[in-house]
Amino acid sequence: MLAQLQTNNGTFIGRYWNEYNVLRRYFSSDWGVSILSFGCSTGEEIRTVKALFPKATIFGCDHDWHDLRAARSLVGDFANVFHSTEADVLSHGPYDIILCNSVLLRPTSMINGKKCGIAPEQWSDIVDLLNSSLKPGGILQIINSNIPFRLHPAASSYESVRSPLLLGPNFVDMFDLERRHLCSGVTGAGMSAHCFRHLGEESWRDLRPSDFDDVHFRKSGGAQPLPLIDNEKIPNVPDRPAYATGTTTYRPVMTPGSRPSTYQEIDVTWTASASDVYVTRAVKRVWFDGSTVSDWQTSACIPGIAAGSFLEAVTGRASSRISIATLAEAALRSSPSI
Ligand SMILES: C[S@@+](CC[C@H](N)C(=O)[O-])C[C@H]1O[C@@H](n2cnc3c(N)ncnc32)[C@H](O)[C@@H]1O
Repeated sequence: MLAQLQTNNGTFIGRYWNEYNVLRRYFSSDWGVSILSFGCSTGEEIRTVKALFPKATIFGCDHDWHDLRAARSLVGDFANVFHSTEADVLSHGPYDIILCNSVLLRPTSMINGKKCGIAPEQWSDIVDLLNSSLKPGGILQIINSNIPFRLHPAASSYESVRSPLLLGPNFVDMFDLERRHLCSGVTGAGMSAHCFRHLGEESWRDLRPSDFDDVHFRKSGGAQPLPLIDNEKIPNVPDRPAYATGTTTYRPVMTPGSRPSTYQEIDVTWTASASDVYVTRAVKRVWFDGSTVSDWQTSACIPGIAAGSFLEAVTGRASSRISIATLAEAALRSSPSI
């Protein structure tokens, strides 16, 4: 039996929608694609991914029997949900995509006066298993890991696949394999994955800007090259009447004398129609020493549920949780080859 890592089972429909949406565009069709939600909790991640990959074969596993029961009742027979043993993870694979979101962590605790997260050996064992279960050319999506994926030996066989539409890989504390504390995650206002910052801890100099960017890792090998993505714009119908427009700026509150921090400065302008939002998002990452390590701007036309997520992000509200019907409608409109 695998060790239980994250004990909190919090999840919801539409969580990480942006990241799944970007993932969807790496596959020209979802026919024959197999996906594992590792740590599926009560099934909302499976339900959400199904909307974008309606023809894929979807699996979910979790350590917790109560969550598994809830997941089975939520997803019915469109996904195979099983208890997370090493044998079962391997026997249902190999997979084209593995989602490992908010699993590779432990709530930070104090042990002998020192902050601690996940046990490095447990983290390594699970990452080994996921690596063994992924097809060559497959994609591993990791959000919220206590330890950056690049520190695992398997990472040398992966390349990161970046997109300016990705909001970010984590808002939790990070450590290295020697349990040294790299940074403390500090969530921001509204949509935390969008507006997080991190405070420097004992080994913050060992952090890399990529630790705050990389979400998708592509395993080497495989016959299919990644499709070229047209300037990271989500295709949909652009000419609808606007009913609202706005701008939002995010700047973290920095108290004088506080520990060094890395954070993002974000400026968003948006125009909403009945069902889409056109967003221009400028993001600058300020590093611990005050230097700028990335600075870019991207525009996107975002349909349905993703538009809802962006509106939540820019208004700082997370009240409009999205219905399954909206998800399905968004999937039809945003999937390139359905
Ligand atoms: C916060 S939930 C994440 C749910 C979903 N992936 C998401 O991102 O919304 C974390 C889940 O990971 C599960 N988990 C922890 N250790 C696990 C393991 N070794 N194998 C499978 N699931 C595990 C927990 O039981 C919990 O349901």
